[in-house]
Amino acid sequence: MAYEGLVISRVAFVVALLMLGFGLEGSDANFNKDFDITWGDGRAKILNNGQLLTLSLDKTSGSGFRSQNRYMYGKIDMQIKLVPGNSAGTVTTYYLSSLGANHDEIDFEFLGNLSGDPYILHTNVFAQGKGNREQQFYLWFDPTKDYHTYSILWNPLNIIFYVDGTPIREFKNLESKGMSYPKSQPMWVYSSLWDAEDWATRGGLVKTDWTQAPFIASYRNYNAQACTWSPSSSSSSCSSSSWLNQALDTSEQRRIEWVQKNYMIYNYCSDSKRFPQGFPPECSLN
Ligand SMILES: *[C@@H]1O[C@H](CO)[C@@H](O)[C@H](O)[C@H]1NC(C)=O
Repeated sequence: MAYEGLVISRVAFVVALLMLGFGLEGSDANFNKDFDITWGDGRAKILNNGQLLTLSLDKTSGSGFRSQNRYMYGKIDMQIKLVPGNSAGTVTTYYLSSLGANHDEIDFEFLGNLSGDPYILHTNVFAQGKGNREQQFYLWFDPTKDYHTYSILWNPLNIIFYVDGTPIREFKNLESKGMSYPKSQPMWVYSSLWDAEDWATRGGLVKTDWTQAPFIASYRNYNAQACTWSPSSSSSSCSSSSWLNQALDTSEQRRIEWVQKNYMIYNYCSDSKRFPQGFPPECSLN
């Protein structure tokens, strides 16, 4: 199959780069050197010599940050502790994105809730500017009590969303069936904390309680095994290669089915009201 040949030649290319001694990324991640705070007027803070980052939201503004590097494929982990207590109306985002109208994007969004009520983890994938592929989940733990690891694996074969190493969503490369796939636009890693009381919690019924502000989300242990894009040479160099052809194995297949059966609360591929002319093709292929 021509496609397999392409993947193998990519891996060979990556290994060649490794042998040439391109820099290793991820082992000594530090928010000071890996990220820029992009907005929030002092509300985002890098602490503990770059080991901890906090985002804050109050009535005036939220805050956010962006990776310094752009990546063209990667396996990217972040540990996040979400806004505790009454977080209704708040949204914490963590995503990969390129720029422009035809951008690619891979999204985690955490929709806050009243104390004791469950967050919703909202996911989406955009290819060439087209999204509309939402899936939503409850989590099997309280994401505000501790840090948990949220990961995106993005390679030529598939995009897999992981929570603490458990796959929750898979988006396969179906270019051979004519579907577009994010593979030509390098993406930054972004995160933000902002107010979305119009829609976030119970569809906007529960508003943000500003007496609880500031709302704070915390980040640590960023790790990117990735191909780092170099704008000057328009090419990428990769830190390691095993993840580049990684797909779900059989035990992960069982895990993802467990999550989707027990924790998925919305799937665009089952929302027939939204697609009266029939579901997008990937719904039967993915
Ligand atoms: C908030 O809690 C309510 C009640 O349990 C639930 O219906 C909803 O899905 C939860 N999450 C959000 C983000 O609205």
